[in-house]
Amino acid sequence: MFFFIFRVVCFLQLIISIVFSQPGCSICQMSPCQNGGTCNCTLDSAPSNYTCDCTGTGYQGINCTVAQLPFIHPPSYNLLMNQDDDCANVTLPTSVQIGPFYYKIAYVCSNGLVSFNTSYASYTPELFPLSVEFPPVIAPYWDDIVLVGSRELRYQVISGSSSIATQVNNFLTSYTGKPFNLDWLLWAYWYNVCPYTDDSCLTHQSNFFQLV
Ligand SMILES: *[C@@H]1O[C@H](CO)[C@@H](O)[C@H](O)[C@H]1NC(C)=O
Ligand SMILES: *[C@@H]1O[C@H](CO)[C@@H](O)[C@H](O)[C@H]1NC(C)=O
Ligand SMILES: *[C@@H]1O[C@H](CO)[C@@H](O)[C@H](O)[C@H]1NC(C)=O
Ligand SMILES: *[C@@H]1O[C@H](CO)[C@@H](O)[C@H](O)[C@H]1NC(C)=O
Ligand SMILES: *[C@@H]1O[C@H](CO)[C@@H](O)[C@H](O)[C@H]1NC(C)=O
Repeated sequence: MFFFIFRVVCFLQLIISIVFSQPGCSICQMSPCQNGGTCNCTLDSAPSNYTCDCTGTGYQGINCTVAQLPFIHPPSYNLLMNQDDDCANVTLPTSVQIGPFYYKIAYVCSNGLVSFNTSYASYTPELFPLSVEFPPVIAPYWDDIVLVGSRELRYQVISGSSSIATQVNNFLTSYTGKPFNLDWLLWAYWYNVCPYTDDSCLTHQSNFFQLV
C-alpha cells in the first residue's frame, strides 16, 4: 500500500513537473554562463532567452566571457578637490543625445553623479527612475562624499585617437560582439573617496570608482 501511494505521488510529481516546467529553463542546464556567472531564465522566455548574472566574477557580457574593463589612468586630467556638493562643468566635443534632447555640457559631480542640462550636486540618493524634475544623470554611485585631503574627483575628455580609446574600443567590441569605434570619451574617477562623516574610512574602506 505504502509503495502504491509512493508510486502515485511520484507519478503526480512527474505530471506537475511536465505541465509547469518552463521551456526557457532548459537553456540554463547547458550552462551558458561562464566564469562562475549565474544563469537565470526569464519566465516568459523563448528557449534562447536567459540572463547571466556576472556580479563578482570579474567578467561581463551575455555569457560572462568578457573580462571587465580595467581602470584607466590617463597621463593628465582635471581635478575637483576641496569641495563639497559641487560639480565641474565639462564641455563635450560633440553633443550627447539622451532621450529626445542633446546636451553639450556634462556636470561631473562630487557625490558620484554625472548630470546633463543642469549641474546636480545633491547628496541625497533617489530611487530610479527619477521623476521629471531631475536632470538626466548617470549614477555610478550616489551618496554624500566630501572631497577633502586626498579625496579627489579626476576627470578628462579623451580623444578617439589615444591608446586609451583603443583599449575601450577593444573592450566594447568584444562586449557587444559588434565593431566599436568611439569619437571621444568622458572619463571620471572618484579617487579614494569616503562617505561623509566617516573619518576612519581612508584607512579601511575608501572607494575608487570610474565612469567611462
Ligand atoms: C552565449 O552562449 C550561447 C550558448 O553557448 C551562444 O549560443 C552565444 O553565441 C553566446 N553569446 C555570446 C555573445 O558569446
Ligand atoms: C531572474 O529573472 C527574473 C525575471 O527577469 C527576475 O525577476 C529575478 O529577480 C531574476 N533572478 C535572479 C537571481 O537574477
Ligand atoms: C526575453 O525576455 C525578455 C524579458 O522577459 C523579453 O523582453 C524578450 O522579448 C524575450 N526575448 C525572446 C527572444 O524571447
Ligand atoms: C557651470 O554651470 C553652472 C550651471 O549651468 C553655471 O552656473 C556656471 O557658471 C558654470 N561654470 C563654469 C565655470 O562654466
Ligand atoms: C533643462 O533645465 C531647465 C531648468 O534648468 C529646464 O527648464 C529644462 O526643461 C531642461 N531641459 C531639458 C531638455 O532637460
